[in-house]
Amino acid sequence: MSHSPSIAELLIRDTLTIRDALSVIDRNAQGVCFVVDPKGVLIGVLTDGDIRRALIAGRTLDHPLIDVVQRKFTALPVTTPVEHIQAKLNDTVRHIPLLDEQGVPVDFASTRRAHRIQVMSPQLDGNELAYVTECLKTGWISSQGAYVKKFETQFAERCAMPHALAVSNGTVAIHLALVALGVGEGDEVIVPDLTFAASINTIIHAGATPVIADVDPITWTLDPAEVEKLITPRTKAIMPVHLYGHPCRMDELMAIAKKHNLFVVEDSAEALGALYKGRPVGSFGDAATFSFFGNKTITTGEGGMVLFRDPVIADRAIVLRDHGMDKQKRYWHQMVGYNYRMTNMQAAIGVAQLERLDEFVQAKRRLAAIYNEGLSQLGDIGLPPEETWAFNGFWLYSCLIGEGFGMKRDELIEKMMKNGVETRPLFYPLHEMPPYTKYILPGQRFEVSTRLSQAGISLPSSVTITREEQDSVIGSMRTIHDTRKLHVIV
Ligand SMILES: Cc1ncc(COP(=O)(O)O)c(C=O)c1O
Repeated sequence: MSHSPSIAELLIRDTLTIRDALSVIDRNAQGVCFVVDPKGVLIGVLTDGDIRRALIAGRTLDHPLIDVVQRKFTALPVTTPVEHIQAKLNDTVRHIPLLDEQGVPVDFASTRRAHRIQVMSPQLDGNELAYVTECLKTGWISSQGAYVKKFETQFAERCAMPHALAVSNGTVAIHLALVALGVGEGDEVIVPDLTFAASINTIIHAGATPVIADVDPITWTLDPAEVEKLITPRTKAIMPVHLYGHPCRMDELMAIAKKHNLFVVEDSAEALGALYKGRPVGSFGDAATFSFFGNKTITTGEGGMVLFRDPVIADRAIVLRDHGMDKQKRYWHQMVGYNYRMTNMQAAIGVAQLERLDEFVQAKRRLAAIYNEGLSQLGDIGLPPEETWAFNGFWLYSCLIGEGFGMKRDELIEKMMKNGVETRPLFYPLHEMPPYTKYILPGQRFEVSTRLSQAGISLPSSVTITREEQDSVIGSMRTIHDTRKLHVIV
């Protein structure tokens, strides 16, 4: 298996010969080496083409390389944003040394590295283009048009909920759900500690007070026992988040909600296609929300959906979504509303994506099975959960790096990046981040979310990932693991 080399494998001293440069290039397999002075500062670049030309011109292999080095080359500060680096790479500039403030190469970019295995990329090769083209040709590009209605109707049906509203993203979907349900000032909403911050931000934006609960160690989602402990007379709602595609313990959570007369808003952003006891996530609570951000199971670029059970609340949400404007009387506003609408073009993409949802979920489940098999042969990796009652949507395949693996999660992430494999840490626990520490209750502990967050890593999980790429991800983890073991033994 070929891995991208480290910068050290591309460096050569300016005092050496063309022959030495050739052997460096031969070993690093990049077709290039970076020439440095005694202080390590980059002074030139030498490609295999340069060497070929030098030999044709009559230089010998033992000639000093300094005479043939390219003094004009493209180099960038190592702090340059990835998009800018990628914009500079082309057919002639295939390698760019990345320099520290002293001009010392500390990393490099290459066209090959630019094709790193991404954590997530969308698959848009179905009817997306045809449907969007139709919007453009007919002029229905804004938030009115047939695709918005179609997307909502099909989505509601798919999730077994009576009312669906397409909105501009998954965050405003949650906010709209809370406001439409009447959750606001003086109310408490229980939210899991381990989630993407949009779950808690929207509670705060609604004017309510978030109450953070630890998650359960098996499903990584809201722990019903913790929720029960946190209920007060002010509790108005609970927000189960189906994290990384695994459904929450809905029977227990719904029973608590019923007992205390609470709303349930399911944040299902990461779990479209997942099932709890055979029933779609998002079909249990009073409202459920979804995200169609570019990395989600289906995408509309940016976009979201909110589902409601109650027609009156759904109706209120329709008005709130459109500036609070009366549905019959234009420019007459009955409430202080928002503009949370989705465009017809986004919905057109959504309809095309929804046509392939089953295919995408199957692909996610296949890739999870491949990772499970490959990783279970490595030391001390906790595989992602799938309870017997659950059908995990495996939005983002996430596993836990145990102590026996031999290195910390963050070190692994860094090393895998060098191998051209992009990964992500699990979310940070909400309670650790500055805007939310004030919501920690006296004596409250979050042992499970803290432990999971420190050990968790998400691997490339695109539906477009190939078997070879997955083997490369697993192989990279194996090499890193085995090398570390060797170090320990030596
Ligand atoms: C659990 C969760 N809730 C909410 C969101 C917010 O969705 P969006 O990015 O579409 O606003 C996301 C993802 O981005 C998420 O993962």
